[in-house]
Amino acid sequence: MRRYFIAGNWKMNLTRAAAEALATDLVAAMPAGDSPVDVLVAPASPYLLPVASVTAGSHVELGAQDAYFESAGAFTGEVSVEMLLDVGCTQVILGHSERRHVLGETDEFTGKKVEAALAGGLKVILCVGELLSEREAEETDSVLDRQMAGGLKNVDERAMENVVIAYEPVWAIGTGKTASPDQAESAHDHLRKWLANRYNSEVADRTRILYGGSVKPENASELLGQPNVDGALVGGASLKADLFNAIIEAAVELAGS
Ligand code: 13P
Repeated sequence: MRRYFIAGNWKMNLTRAAAEALATDLVAAMPAGDSPVDVLVAPASPYLLPVASVTAGSHVELGAQDAYFESAGAFTGEVSVEMLLDVGCTQVILGHSERRHVLGETDEFTGKKVEAALAGGLKVILCVGELLSEREAEETDSVLDRQMAGGLKNVDERAMENVVIAYEPVWAIGTGKTASPDQAESAHDHLRKWLANRYNSEVADRTRILYGGSVKPENASELLGQPNVDGALVGGASLKADLFNAIIEAAVELAGS
């Protein structure tokens, strides 16, 4: 049985004070003792340290929104895996559609980052997802196949223990348009079959596949209730403690049912 995983991608939002306050509210709302759901927040990099001091010792894990594949040197503006570990991150989001489509990052570039993050000891949330034009041209499966192949190029079966996949259809990100539960389930099922093909059925069964794209408290239960949806990567709704907590609560309820 895969554990639900609810991750908040704060993107380039909040102030230091607001990030600390949000993390404080989330930590306070986490159930005491063992939680049946894994929870992570990914603040903008200047706020990793202050948020780390709030989440330390809690069940809320700290993630980064990106990392570079070189370990040090003349790479102005970039942040290494070692630096992220040093400030308390356990995970990193890689291949987010905004990095692919706003910043022009390729599958190959994403694959190098995935490889470096895993080698350095960070868990990876690898994002994949098609544009609206690609969906309309019935290219969703082939786009996902290409992004998976590039992102996981040098990742072996063992390293896959530290990888989570996030399916984020680009047309559903920040638009208020959510993929229907059927659309999400069908893409997740395709991704799981891809994992079985590339690795084996054990890797396919244990790898968590999150859905991302306008997840809100009102649609969380239905999306998370799909057999191949193992969690959510939440953008906008992760910036409000009450909304994010309600999504976590939906996962807790499903985990107990
Ligand atoms: P929204 O939840 O704002 O649509 O963002 C989704 C996302 O991109 C999470 O990584």
